[in-house]
Amino acid sequence: MRKQIAAANWKMNLTYQQGEKLLDDILDAKIGLAAHQHAIFAVPFPYLLMTRSEVEDAKNYHAAAQNCHHKKSGAYTGEVSVEMLHSIGVNYCVIGHSERREYSAETNAMLAEKVNLCYDSHIVPIFCCGEPLAIREAGTQNDFVAAQLKESLFHLPTDKIKEIIIAYEPIWAIGTGKTASTGQAQEIHQFLRSVIAAQYGEENANEIPILYGGSVKANNAKELFSCPDVDGGLVGGASLVAADFIEIIKSLK
Ligand code: 13P
Repeated sequence: MRKQIAAANWKMNLTYQQGEKLLDDILDAKIGLAAHQHAIFAVPFPYLLMTRSEVEDAKNYHAAAQNCHHKKSGAYTGEVSVEMLHSIGVNYCVIGHSERREYSAETNAMLAEKVNLCYDSHIVPIFCCGEPLAIREAGTQNDFVAAQLKESLFHLPTDKIKEIIIAYEPIWAIGTGKTASTGQAQEIHQFLRSVIAAQYGEENANEIPILYGGSVKANNAKELFSCPDVDGGLVGGASLVAADFIEIIKSLK
């Protein structure tokens, strides 16, 4: 079965101590994950080592960075390189979250560079795509997300794209309490898979997890994850509350 993933994105929330307690509470629930199920915690940079050591003994639990720089190394004060992440044993990195695209002016071309650096360091990119409200209202969301995939990912060879995790996060659903309906989620996830299939073949497209993000909560996760092309979620607000994220992990197929 394709990987099913509950990924937490803490964004710029929680102190170190609060983060450590949250992880303790989630791990204390001892949710046994099947071989195809994974829980990933995308935490602020200063918490990565702590998170890595917290999840070390828990099967299929992982730490992720929320971002990395698009250059390999050099005079970029305050930035964090992929190589640095690799050197502390981080194996996943969120790439191209809409908040970074918006507030840090990240372009599709820049994200392609980040993705390449991740692969060079054996870090799995969790690649985010998703349309703003105006695009959804105009009904052109398919073209918009297809271009995001093509411009940042479709230079990759098949053996690399097969490793990627995609997160579809409609911007109008992030932090708004407004979730895509299961119909909307399934439709666009299926479309994204078909775009990948057209480039890399159906068999490869069928292996790639496509997560849904945007107001995933304890009470809607199961329904969203039950869609055949929704392979889990990338969760902001609800990942900051242990009981809620535990429920979301338990909602994985
Ligand atoms: P919310 O779950 O708070 O809507 O955030 C979604 C998100 O941006 C995860 O990356």
